Amino acid sequence: TFVVTENCINCKYTDCVEVCPVDCFYEGPNFLVIHPDECIDCALCEPECPAEAIFSEDDLPPGQEKFIEINAELAEEWPNITEMKGAMDDAAEWDGKEGKADLLQR
Ligand code: SF4
Ligand code: F3S
Repeated sequence: TFVVTENCINCKYTDCVEVCPVDCFYEGPNFLVIHPDECIDCALCEPECPAEAIFSEDDLPPGQEKFIEINAELAEEWPNITEMKGAMDDAAEWDGKEGKADLLQR
């Protein structure tokens, strides 16, 4: 399973959804998640993210482990997204900022 991690927050570029063959991305106010039971591990989305926020659950950067559970939980609550749309305002400014995990809106 692949996991969307912290750096997606407040960027939400959505390039990732365009390439997913099983449409397993779900959208919240300022973040996207991957449904772990639907992801087929194709890895196509990982290089598409301009914010480099997508990782295999086996290869998560230190400190990002909590996003495994966050993806699983919110994928059950949020609506499916299958087409790319504009990134969030100020996405470029938020890209790479630290401490964004606390800004996740549910
Ligand atoms: Fe979709 Fe493949 Fe990314 Fe999983 S790894 S979310 S199946 S594009
Ligand atoms: Fe987020 Fe990257 Fe997709 S910023 S919306 S995981 S392209």
